[in-house]
Parts: sequence; structure tokens; C-alpha cells
Amino acid sequence: MYGEKLNLKDFRNYRQLELGLPRGLVVFEGENAVGKTSLLEALYLLATTKSPRAGTEQELVSLEAEPQFGAPAFARLSAEIVRQEGAIEAEILIIRDGEGSEITPTNSSRKRIKVNGVSRRAVDLIGQINVVLFSPEDLDLIIGAPALRRRYLDITLSQIDHRYLRALQEYSRVLAQRNGFLRNQKERRRAGRGTTSSLDELAIWDSELVKSGVYIIRRRRECLRGLNERAIGLHANLIGLNSPLTDAMQPSFELVYQPSFKLAGVEDEATLTQHFEAQLKLSHTQELQRGVSLIGPHRDDFAFMIEGADIGIYGSRGQQRTAVLALKLAEVGWMENQTGDPPILMLDDILSELDVNRRQYVLETVQVGAEQVLITTTDLALFGNHAHLQQIAALYHVGSGRVTRL
Ligand SMILES: Nc1ncnc2c1ncn2[C@@H]1O[C@H](COP(=O)(O)OP(=O)(O)O)[C@@H](O)[C@H]1O
Ligand SMILES: [Mg+2]
Repeated sequence: MYGEKLNLKDFRNYRQLELGLPRGLVVFEGENAVGKTSLLEALYLLATTKSPRAGTEQELVSLEAEPQFGAPAFARLSAEIVRQEGAIEAEILIIRDGEGSEITPTNSSRKRIKVNGVSRRAVDLIGQINVVLFSPEDLDLIIGAPALRRRYLDITLSQIDHRYLRALQEYSRVLAQRNGFLRNQKERRRAGRGTTSSLDELAIWDSELVKSGVYIIRRRRECLRGLNERAIGLHANLIGLNSPLTDAMQPSFELVYQPSFKLAGVEDEATLTQHFEAQLKLSHTQELQRGVSLIGPHRDDFAFMIEGADIGIYGSRGQQRTAVLALKLAEVGWMENQTGDPPILMLDDILSELDVNRRQYVLETVQVGAEQVLITTTDLALFGNHAHLQQIAALYHVGSGRVTRL
């Protein structure tokens, strides 16, 4: 798929933008802080309904946007995406808080979503547009907390599997209730009020948790296997670029799923269900003591391993960069494999961190793997020969809230 149009109104530092885009390589060049990342952020937001970087959605609304005719200020972003299963138009409105509340009731959502002109919920938009975003902050995927890796899996899977998204919502709802129950039991016990029936009730919560939890575990495992399959080869290529290695010399690279309880040999759904339930039973005593759910997908993790060592802990910065690059490139192929339509790939300012050979390799690989690749850079010289670049890519100059074709 590819983005054909991106329109912004009062989004970040864009007051008004109407941008047409071709398929293929698209390069946005410009100084720092002119709005390059914001373009990718807008498209990411339209695909996932979430910003990859904003702390609050409110910060997305231009500081210069003003209330009009008594209605609060808002940002509007929309895109037209050409897909194999047909074109789609997505639109998101983000309304500024605390303005014009006489018109917009304060209890209504500050985010409005439309798909093909019709009001929809976030879950209806998620998955319609598929994107893979790679930015320098993605190094946190390797060195950061497990929650970041779970979030990564959730966003990746939710984009291609609606049932996963629903299971995730169901799981977090049940988990919150189960945790509430455990907390309550802990307090009762502390107050000396006994917990006689607590195990029976806990068993009911268990089966609810397992229902959605099993699907999440299965899909995360499949996703990591699929990504791993592709990442191994990409990683080997990236390593071998500067000094070709024989197969025997290649360090073994692996993405390893680390679920909250051992899954060894447990493959099919029925066995996994029984196993998860049995594991929950084993942790009941401890859970009642601590007042919190101790096992399940909310405690999952995965690791990037080289030669069996976790490179989040033992790897050099260079090894970590290579690993996350291999993962991101693998994601494109995996998503296409799952949906039959390659996602839009967005590389935000990452080329400057790569040496010449890797830059070359990445540019060649992505052109084959994705139908459209959006790249931001402060420096066009990174792409080598300018005349050649103009032949293979559409070039745009970004200058404080404006975008012009070069
Ligand atoms: N809500 C907002 N209103 C106005 N300007 C904003 C808002 N949020 C961010 N900015 C500004 O937008 C500019 C673009 O940021 P960014 O897209 O990250 O630029 P780049 O990627 O080109 O470095 C920055 O100067 C930032 O201060
Ligand atoms: Mg940027």
C-alpha cells in the first residue's frame, strides 16, 4: 500500500498542508525542527490512532490554532491510502481541551475518527493502514523496559490482526478486575476478615483471563517466529557487509520470546489453555499474598540474542543498532506475509547513523520490500550522487511547516 495524499490542519507546526505523494522512495530533507518527523507522526497516527512520541494528544494541536465560531481549536489530519483491497480515506480530529465546552460536552472524546467520511471508533480504523516506523529512539526496544517490547508486539500485531486487538482489550479488562479482586482479598486478610471462598472466585477469573490470554500468547509467539525467520538473514547480511563472513563465522542471532511462564513444547491451543490454567493455580497463594496477578501476557518479554547472550545487556551500541535495524526490516516482510499487502515504511532520520555500506544496503532492501518508503534526513549528501538520487526518489524540502517538491 502507499499514501497518496496527506492533509494537515493545525497539526504540530503545520497550519495547513496538502501533500500529494508518489509510490516508491520519498525523501524529506530539511533542517532540524522544521516538521519532518511530524509528517511521519501524522501517518503513523492515522494507522494506529496513537502518536509514537507524544506524551499527550493535546500537544499535537498547533499552539497557534484558535477557537472559531465558539468551537474549540482542533487539529485535523487525513490521508488517502491506496491499498490492494481498495483505497481508503482516514481522518482524525483532535480537539483542544477546555475550550468551547458549551458546544462540545466535556465528557465527549477529544479525538474523532472518520473512515471514508463516516464516524468510526478507533478499533475500526486500526489495521486499515499498515505502517512500520523506524526512528533512532527504537534502540530503546532493545535496552528499555519489557513494557516497551510488549507495546511493540501489540502495535505490530494489532495492525494486522483484529482479533488480537480485541483479545488485548478483553485481557486488560479482565486483568484489572482480577487485580482488583486480589487487592481486595489482601486487604481483607490484613484486616483479619478471612478469605474462605477466595480460591473459588479466583478460579472464575482465571478462566476469563486464559480465554483472551491464550490467543495473545499464541500470536506473540507466531509473530516473533515470523520476525526471527526474516531477521536472521537480514542480520547476517548487515554484519557481512564490511567484511564478508563464511557461514561458520556468522554470530548466531535470535529473537527469543520470554513468556511469563515456561511454554516448552506447548504448541496447540487446548494444551496451552490447560497449561496456563495450571500455572495460574500454582501462583494463587503468592498472588493472594501480594495482591496482584503474577503471570500472563502482561508479564511477557522478548530478547535479542547473539550467541545466546542478551545484547540488551551484553551487546555494544553497534550490535544493538544492527539488531534493531534487522528487526525493523524484518517487520516489513512479515506484515506483507500476513496481509498480502506491504506496509508503508518510514525511516526517520536513521541513515546518518549508518555507515556507507549499510545505508546502501538499507536503501536497496527497502525498495524491494515496500511499495512506499518515506525517509527523513537533514542531509541529502548521505544518499550519494544527487543526480542518481533524483532518478530513484521523489525529493521534498521541508521548511518550518511547509513542504515543497524539489
Ligand atoms: N503543538 C505544536 N504547535 C506548534 N509547533 C509545534 C507543536 N508541537 C511541536 N511543534 C514544533 O514543531 C517543530 C517540528 O518538529 P519535528 O517534526 O520534530 O521536526 P524535525 O523532525 O524536522 O526535526 C518543532 O520546532 C516543534 O517545536
Ligand atoms: Mg525529526
